[in-house]
Amino acid sequence: MKVLVVGGGGREHALVWKISQSPKVKKIYCAPGNAGIEQLAECVPIDPLDINGLLSLAKKEEIDLTVVGPEAPLVEGIVDVFEKEGLRIFGPSKEAAMMEGSKVFAKNFMKEYGIPTAPFRVFDNSGDAKKYIQESQDETFVVKADGLAAGKGVVVASSKEEALNAVSDIMEKRVFGTAGEKIVIEERLYGEEVSILAFVDGETIIPMVSSQDHKAVFDGDKGPNTGGMGAYSPAPVYTDDIHKKVLENILEPTVKGLRDKGIEYKGVLYAGLMITDEGPMVLEFNVRFGDPEAQPVLFRLNTDLVDVINAVIDKKLNGMQLYWSEHPSVCVVLASKGYPGKYEKGKEIMGLEDNYGDDVFIFHAGTKVTDGKIVTSGGRVLGITAMGENLREALDNAYGCIGKVRFEDMHYRRDIGEKALRRLGLL
Ligand code: AMP
Ligand code: GLY
Repeated sequence: MKVLVVGGGGREHALVWKISQSPKVKKIYCAPGNAGIEQLAECVPIDPLDINGLLSLAKKEEIDLTVVGPEAPLVEGIVDVFEKEGLRIFGPSKEAAMMEGSKVFAKNFMKEYGIPTAPFRVFDNSGDAKKYIQESQDETFVVKADGLAAGKGVVVASSKEEALNAVSDIMEKRVFGTAGEKIVIEERLYGEEVSILAFVDGETIIPMVSSQDHKAVFDGDKGPNTGGMGAYSPAPVYTDDIHKKVLENILEPTVKGLRDKGIEYKGVLYAGLMITDEGPMVLEFNVRFGDPEAQPVLFRLNTDLVDVINAVIDKKLNGMQLYWSEHPSVCVVLASKGYPGKYEKGKEIMGLEDNYGDDVFIFHAGTKVTDGKIVTSGGRVLGITAMGENLREALDNAYGCIGKVRFEDMHYRRDIGEKALRRLGLL
């Protein structure tokens, strides 16, 4: 079969890599892809938001299955458009994608169905929002733009002044455009974060192995939030007891609640959780694989991903068994200095051709080929992904190639996985 993967980041490289291992797949296309994906797929320069362009490609090349990586085309309704044309596509419908596309929708949904999440208020004008902050007894607030903001629309404010500035940036200056027409202000939660991704076929839910992202740009969770600077799987904070609670109190009521509303959720449902003293609570829902979580999670998947995707589309997940490697995995992101702010592009990347062994794979994100050389072309550039007998070994394997893999002004966190090492007594 012929598969089209939409997107061009590290997550999409991981998807293409995993899909390429399926004996059913003869050819993979990727739009737009990157320099790493190019080694496994034919890259086509179509923007993921150019839904008509993607539809034409899928028809012209007689694509049997389209797999969507990023949220933006899902929220724009790519799945509805493809399905209407009789094409097979993996991901939630436009309506279902509202779980990520609108924080107001997701929060109201959670309130309605009793899904544990931080108490919140919704505002549609900055005056009311500011008044609420000024009059509040609290000093910390989490301010969230309603719509998509490339992972940057959330401000965890530790003073009223910071919260007021966030309201003014999002609602008055409109730094995220129309995403700031409404905001959610919620209570700050404390604990360790875990990402739980699950395959959902409308009814049956099969959670994947747990993972933990590292959102802040600097070591010790300092600095602004990024799309994610690294991840590992599994997350030791995620115990069997917590897993049971997440299934019963979060994933099952969510999929059922959506069904009650006449919304069939098919695809990957990603619950971003805070493990608080009171139990797991939802920070956010995403409607796709996480990036970088997909890299370490798919690295551990021993089942044919195409079989799982087909089972989701055909509503045949019930009874399916997924097989995972027992070995922990980790992804360390190499980013351009300055990211998530301004950064330079076009730096030549060295050391990619070396052989780092079967336990390591270098997923590309912002890379491209210029004059026969692989150069940087984005904020997050590479995700060094590795496995080991234990997390310590996985981390040694990943960090071991950094230095050989390098580019000018490369920035990466040196403390990926430290929280887990501490829990495991390995630090
Ligand atoms: P979201 O896009 O809603 O997950 O927010 C992005 C990040 O902001 C999360 O991964 C957390 O690190 C942080 N965050 C969001 N909501 C809260 C909250 N209620 N309490 C503490 N941190 C939060
Ligand atoms: N790594 C966070 C996300 O994919 O949203």
